[in-house]
Amino acid sequence: MAASSFASTPVAPTIKLSSGASIPVVGFGTWRAGPGETESSVYCALQSGYRHIDCAKIYGNEKEVGAGITRAISEGLVKREELFLTTKVWNDSHTTERTQRSVTESLADLQVSYLDLVLIHWPVEFAYLPEKGMFPRDDKGVVINDTDPSSGASIKACWQALEGLVSAGSVRSIGVSNFSIEEIQTLLAYAKIKPVCNQVELQPYFPQDELLAFVKSQNMILVHYSPLGNLRNKGAEDDTPLNDPVVATLAKKHSKSAAQIILRWGLQQGHVVLPKSVTPSRIRENIALFDFELDAEDMVAMKALGAKQKRYVNPTFAFKNGASGANVFPKSAL
Ligand code: A2P
Repeated sequence: MAASSFASTPVAPTIKLSSGASIPVVGFGTWRAGPGETESSVYCALQSGYRHIDCAKIYGNEKEVGAGITRAISEGLVKREELFLTTKVWNDSHTTERTQRSVTESLADLQVSYLDLVLIHWPVEFAYLPEKGMFPRDDKGVVINDTDPSSGASIKACWQALEGLVSAGSVRSIGVSNFSIEEIQTLLAYAKIKPVCNQVELQPYFPQDELLAFVKSQNMILVHYSPLGNLRNKGAEDDTPLNDPVVATLAKKHSKSAAQIILRWGLQQGHVVLPKSVTPSRIRENIALFDFELDAEDMVAMKALGAKQKRYVNPTFAFKNGASGANVFPKSAL
């Protein structure tokens, strides 16, 4: 995607996925959009030009997202075929039957007949214990696994179930989220349908350079969740890319906000960004990214921020194999 193609685009441009589908490069994040604010935020996003909404079963708000989408469609604001809708299968639902059920429930809650993209949410398997909720913990607070997670068996079952849903027509593209290079390689060894993307935390302090090089070599793309540094994490408010002096300098230079500089940086690397906001002015700001361009010098300055290697989303159940970055993610917040 040429950066110049951004100029005065009313809605975000799209890039092609390996499945042939087109994904808008700015998506609307819905993680932590709470009850009573999700429907209006989704509707506001659609009014503001977003055509890509990122959802997940675990966010617990897909009914409200669906209500916002349905309202926009019924008012003639958008057509279903103009939208790109993503959901994710949670860690306790990797068997064939539960994967199918999870997707069926997401389809019903979102009030649509197909999904554009479904992801395996984490390369981690939880026991399915509905009486304990979606984070089944033992007496010590440790999440309970069903089988040896290192076997990868549950990921294989989930992937094959998703491939079946693509063949059945209810899902257009499939991918993964929070996967390491090794975990993608394992999946590629048996995948009949290749993952189109890996959705991961990616922001200037955590640019994931190695993962990026690998996914490019596999004709996949990276999708950034928490592209602004996930500001709701306790204690993270003061040390995020949004408050970084380099970003502030670039914001001044381009007469844009810090958020717009960060999001534009992601787009210019060929990525897809998923800013979340429930604030109408920010929702509009976060997609107003196509009337300016960071120059080579700006991109070099942004690249230097990656030396921080600071990850904000680092739940205790994941990244057991030596992930870098401080664990600032409170257990209760997922
Ligand atoms: P809110 O939803 O109250 O508007 P991330 O996408 O990195 O996870 O960050 C989401 C957080 O960033 C939310 O707390 C959101 O607040 C805040 N946020 C979203 N857009 C902006 C913006 N343009 N400027 C400042 N904060 C923002």
